[in-house]
Amino acid sequence: MLDVANPLWNPWAHASETLALYRRRCRQEAEEMTCAAQVAEILAARVTPGETLLDAGCGGGYYYWSFHKRQVPIVYFGLDYTPEMIALARSELCPRAGLPPERFLLGAIENLQGVFDNVLCFNVLTNSPHYARPLERLLHCTRKRLVLRESLGDTLCIRYVPDPYLDPGWRHLRTYFNTYPLSEVVAFIESYGFRVTRFPDWRTRDGVEMVVDVPHFWRILLAERREEVPCRA
Ligand SMILES: C[S@@+](CC[C@H](N)C(=O)[O-])C[C@H]1O[C@@H](n2cnc3c(N)ncnc32)[C@H](O)[C@@H]1O
Repeated sequence: MLDVANPLWNPWAHASETLALYRRRCRQEAEEMTCAAQVAEILAARVTPGETLLDAGCGGGYYYWSFHKRQVPIVYFGLDYTPEMIALARSELCPRAGLPPERFLLGAIENLQGVFDNVLCFNVLTNSPHYARPLERLLHCTRKRLVLRESLGDTLCIRYVPDPYLDPGWRHLRTYFNTYPLSEVVAFIESYGFRVTRFPDWRTRDGVEMVVDVPHFWRILLAERREEVPCRA
């Protein structure tokens, strides 16, 4: 069973400016995200027509446009545990993209069931308490390939700090801004039967980016399921 994030701790439920930006992206009134363009190009070279794709932690689901623009022939689904995000996807993106609202699922990655040919998870697990449980679930639900973009460095760094950019009255809420050890995450993914390839991040050129005053080391990993390892959702 899927569930929603508790607004008493969920920063995404109290981030009006972020929500407004995501609304503009859904309406194609904001610049395309570099990382959305990059994942669309990574997958364009690999998918066959009709494959499904789950955007895990999809926000408003605006990565859809990057696939659409490049005519990548995937069937796009989104999942997010913040009700405001799924409402945004259904009300703003779906009518413009001609997608049925049921393509957007309200729920937590940790409780995901089902299988998707492709999974993308960009800029999500960095803000989770830890990467392992949600990533494990995503790997179990991936039939062919998973593309991940998170802050990955040399050592583990867990930060749980107030976010000064949240709505007034909610700035006491803490958010995780974690960096996970790259070699550990790669070994973790491989242990579930995947080959891992790294792609230099177009936006940061594999450098450092300050997000909410915290250093992030965005790295992109493509995980491809080895043929001899069956998918066990
Ligand atoms: C930083 S935003 C990124 C949105 C989008 N992926 C992007 O790159 O623009 C993180 C999103 O992931 C969602 N999220 C975080 N943890 C999640 C989880 N465990 N299950 C489902 N959604 C999650 C949040 O609600 C939020 O919409």
